[in-house]
Amino acid sequence: MSAPLVPPPPVTVVDISPAGDTLRILDQTRLPGEECYLELRDIGRMVEAIRSLRVRGAPAIGVAAGCGMAVLGYHGAIAARVGADFDAILMESADDLRRTRPTAVNLARAVDRVLAAGMIRDAREPYAVRARRMRDEAIAIRDEDRAMCDAIGRHGATFVRDGMRVLTHCNAGALATAGIGTALAPIYVAHARGQQVHVWADETRPLLQGARLTAWELQRAGVPVTVCSDGMAATLMREGAVDLVIVGADRIAANGDVANKIGTYGVAVAARHHGIPFVVAAPRTTIDRHCASGHAIRIEQRSPDELRRLGDRLVIPEAVPVHNPAFDVTPFPLVTAIVTDVGVHHPPYDFRDFPT
Ligand code: MRU
Repeated sequence: MSAPLVPPPPVTVVDISPAGDTLRILDQTRLPGEECYLELRDIGRMVEAIRSLRVRGAPAIGVAAGCGMAVLGYHGAIAARVGADFDAILMESADDLRRTRPTAVNLARAVDRVLAAGMIRDAREPYAVRARRMRDEAIAIRDEDRAMCDAIGRHGATFVRDGMRVLTHCNAGALATAGIGTALAPIYVAHARGQQVHVWADETRPLLQGARLTAWELQRAGVPVTVCSDGMAATLMREGAVDLVIVGADRIAANGDVANKIGTYGVAVAARHHGIPFVVAAPRTTIDRHCASGHAIRIEQRSPDELRRLGDRLVIPEAVPVHNPAFDVTPFPLVTAIVTDVGVHHPPYDFRDFPT
């Protein structure tokens, strides 16, 4: 039997230059209107890019932070030749990057890996050698992420049948990874095999990752997609217009609780009510076996202005308080299956010994 077809990613989201001196990202805040890349070389711009979601999605911010660390190692090695403290630069940069977005475990993990690669191994080794190890580690993280997406696509495609209508929330596609995505990977694989799949993309208030990003990349790849408001998802399910829900994750606890974009929990509750499978797709780097349950997951709080304003327009009275967590936790009993690059995991979930 021939290996199942996996298509190439429809877009490159994050990369490091061959020399290791530049982090290149697609600025997702400009999509769908403009496709514009940024070249980043200093910590300030990297932190700003991750915080303001120019690059976003758990695996992509992991790759961006890993590549960012390597780029800072490259420039740190040059600065060290004229007296700068290479180790201090690395430590401070790692702290700054780790603080940007606390919920996705991929980010801290990638920073730690590249930092470890830059640690001194031999008293006489030049800084440039340490910086090159960091670059190689960052490239390995990028390539591993791409391969994990392919594997998720192959495993997850077992849930997708010809003619299915699949609902997803937020963007867990190519734009959120270095490959073909997580939640969208099974859809890309099914599409490449010639199956007809239609995607419902929840718009995903307040930053519209579903409307702006999922719709953009699926349209580019030729996969039929319709955007619906977040409030529409349950009604679509009641009307019989949804066969399957697939979402990504920012962190999965050892018991299978899933942190993902705010609104995911509501989709899971509605799916359970209507007897629709609710599948989570994520690479092994999103599983946090040290986190016993969702209660221990730190949820990022974002600026009230993301809700208060639509572009320049005020849509909530200025004095009214706004609550704007970026993520919520879906308890494991609502999750039909978790697809990782390793395979399909069914309840009861136990990731305490899971290799990450
Ligand atoms: O705030 P974002 O856009 O970074 O949130 C992204 C999500 O919630 C994704 O579903 C998750 O990171 C998985 S991406 C493969």
